[in-house]
Amino acid sequence: MDFKVADLSLAAFGRREIQLAEHEMPGLMAVRKEYAAAQPLAGAKIMGSLHMTIQTAVLIETLVALGAEVRWVSCNIFSTQDHAAAAVVVGPEGTPENPQGVPVFAWKGETLEEYWWCTEQALTWPGADGPNMILDDGGDATMLVHKGSEYEKAGAVPSTGENDPEEWGVVLDLLRRTVTDEGRWTRVASQIKGVTEETTTGVHRLYEMFKTGTLLFPAINVNDSVTKSKFDNKYGCRHSVIDGLNRATDVLIGGKVALVAGYGDVGKGCAEALKGQGARVIVTEIDPICALQAAMDGFQVTTLDEVVGLVDIFVTTTGNFDIITADHMARMKHNAIVSNIGHFDNEIDMAGLARIPGIEKTEVKPQVHTWRFPDGKQIIVLAEGRLMNLGCATGHPSFVMSNSFTNQVIAQIELFTKTDDYPIGVYVLPKHLDEKVARLHLDALGVKLTTLTKAQAEYIGVDVEGPYKSDHYRY
Ligand code: NAI
Repeated sequence: MDFKVADLSLAAFGRREIQLAEHEMPGLMAVRKEYAAAQPLAGAKIMGSLHMTIQTAVLIETLVALGAEVRWVSCNIFSTQDHAAAAVVVGPEGTPENPQGVPVFAWKGETLEEYWWCTEQALTWPGADGPNMILDDGGDATMLVHKGSEYEKAGAVPSTGENDPEEWGVVLDLLRRTVTDEGRWTRVASQIKGVTEETTTGVHRLYEMFKTGTLLFPAINVNDSVTKSKFDNKYGCRHSVIDGLNRATDVLIGGKVALVAGYGDVGKGCAEALKGQGARVIVTEIDPICALQAAMDGFQVTTLDEVVGLVDIFVTTTGNFDIITADHMARMKHNAIVSNIGHFDNEIDMAGLARIPGIEKTEVKPQVHTWRFPDGKQIIVLAEGRLMNLGCATGHPSFVMSNSFTNQVIAQIELFTKTDDYPIGVYVLPKHLDEKVARLHLDALGVKLTTLTKAQAEYIGVDVEGPYKSDHYRY
């Protein structure tokens, strides 16, 4: 088996944590039981690009339990938990000397070159042109296949532009090496039945490609299952934003001024968590609806420029770029904490910060750096501007990821087994499956659901078994 992880001797530790996680992931375990005999993913070759954590290990082993062959990478250079990666490679039955699990190419602290090399490895299938399914988080794997195919069609890979971000240069270098006249990426794309996408940012990319007519295979938008975005993005971040701040800095949050940029699902979770810790929370928004929500939830809503010098803790949650600029950072308080929990690192202008003449970067510990300005003031930047909950802590806890990943497994089964029902496009799972995911998580929390009477169901115009809401209901 080919693989590349940090240290296989961590596998036993990883396995013990996977066993604890399984208990906290009732949705995934129920799906394993339900489909054990049918093996709906037999024949599926799934390439996964999603944070290689303990929770993801349970997802991977669920896909395998349903018959899939799997190859995996992390979708962020800092988010791999090395013991999880080792345990997945070794597998439940293997040993470090005789690994029998799933090929993983991921370790904590990859360089950008290593990150894209890993992605290429997981898209390279021994004995086949490539995978026939992608499970993506943020869309990097999907993007690589699309760009490779696009440049093969054009007959050339463009040269790197002067103002291109460093990462784009790395991608272009990789494509220069791998784009072939025989059409390697075109062949990979032609084998793929579909992709299931985990997060808001990746979903934006998919809808963009669909709009411009460049999407090459169908996609299920897992993010917009209600049991994903209204749970993982909100309650997951409500948990892991504090975990990231605590493990990175251990600063007392109570009494501090915290600023949350963006009041979407992630922003709502972060703002609530910081308020719960006793911080005075300020929100910034560009959308009047979300701004009004934030105000009604009791937060001050203003612009970053107004308050940048007053804030102790910054968290960006927008999925947009250039939210905190180098100029903002120059105007911050001494030891202000600057962090991002959105998918990509361009929410904070790290390149601009590094270009300030005389600026000095010091590593306090991995993923925690001070940046000292020439006047002696310094700020603390978490995870080099990448998502801090996975860079500085261990991301979301198992129970919330069980909801997200049960949607992922159901979406993989849908696209793989009902390919003809999904012409190229971007789809969300039907509501009855969303409700099923929620249902699978009720017992574990001791929730007792009320059953509609037939008359009540008729009165509100639904079936007793659901779905209970129209598609446009917003929760
Ligand atoms: P969303 O679309 O619900 O929320 C983003 C909000 O930011 C929107 O309300 C938007 O109006 C606002 N916004 C956009 N530009 C802004 C600006 N210049 N200033 C202030 N506000 C602005 O998206 P969601 O689901 O909250 O996701 C946000 C990001 O977090 C995405 O990149 C997503 O992929 C990522 N994510 C990260 C997770 C993690 O564990 N770190 C988990 C889930 C999502």
